[in-house]
Amino acid sequence: MPRDSKTPLIQKIAHQARLSFRGLRAPPGQDQAVADRLAQLISLVTAIRAADLKVAPPTSEPSAAAAGLQGPPGPQGPPVTYMHICETEVFSMGVFLLRGGASIPLHDHPGMNGMLKVLYGTVSVHCFDKLEGGPSPAPPLFRPPLAPADTASVWRAARRSVTQYSETSGPCLLSPARDNLHRIDAVDGPAAFLDILAPPYNPDDGRDCHYYKVLVPAAGGRSQQGGGGGGGVAAGGSPAGGLLVWRGAVPRPPRLRLNQTTPPGPRQDCRLRRRHDP
Ligand SMILES: [Fe+2]
Repeated sequence: MPRDSKTPLIQKIAHQARLSFRGLRAPPGQDQAVADRLAQLISLVTAIRAADLKVAPPTSEPSAAAAGLQGPPGPQGPPVTYMHICETEVFSMGVFLLRGGASIPLHDHPGMNGMLKVLYGTVSVHCFDKLEGGPSPAPPLFRPPLAPADTASVWRAARRSVTQYSETSGPCLLSPARDNLHRIDAVDGPAAFLDILAPPYNPDDGRDCHYYKVLVPAAGGRSQQGGGGGGGVAAGGSPAGGLLVWRGAVPRPPRLRLNQTTPPGPRQDCRLRRRHDP
């Protein structure tokens, strides 16, 4: 694709995402080429702004609606809206709109890479890694106690980072092995972010989205469940690497009802497929 100024930035991103993420399957010895293609994608994603996708925070000014700008849903709507842009065999791309105070609970992207770029507002991203060794063999005590079947879905985990991103920040990155679990909170008002996942979710290929709770050791050696999939660590509680995350029987949170729509900005020339998860 020629790098002319008439090509919408989101189309350049879609084109580069296909090249960059397809390159992740490159044979050994091409590491530098893969890194270069990924750097090009990061550069393009860093430059995108809300105006490129015609999204904007809510405003009472009628000029915004007249201009076709898409903001978060009103108070009666869901806290999170997803605007699907496109999905191919290599990647999926869309925009999440969060009302002020809304959260996307702790969830994973098994076997996937991701880029999150804030378009407006500020989001706080809590990143975790599952640690090696599979489910924790002997979870500590919880209140209320976990059912025996649930203990098989508890993993040791490490809290890697808590970072705030705004429209001037570079993208938040995740890989299959790093920062793959995350929780996203809108901070100080509504927020929107571009979300690129590669490869896309595909339950038939082992890439389904799961939600988690953080199990927080409590004072006195007992433990309790952290609410909301990643709530605060108890005072004096778990150091990094000492957390447990529970995937057992945690369905899609009922408050996270994605209202799927399409952005009013430039449409993408890539084949559309299935539904989306965060
Ligand atoms: Fe995510």
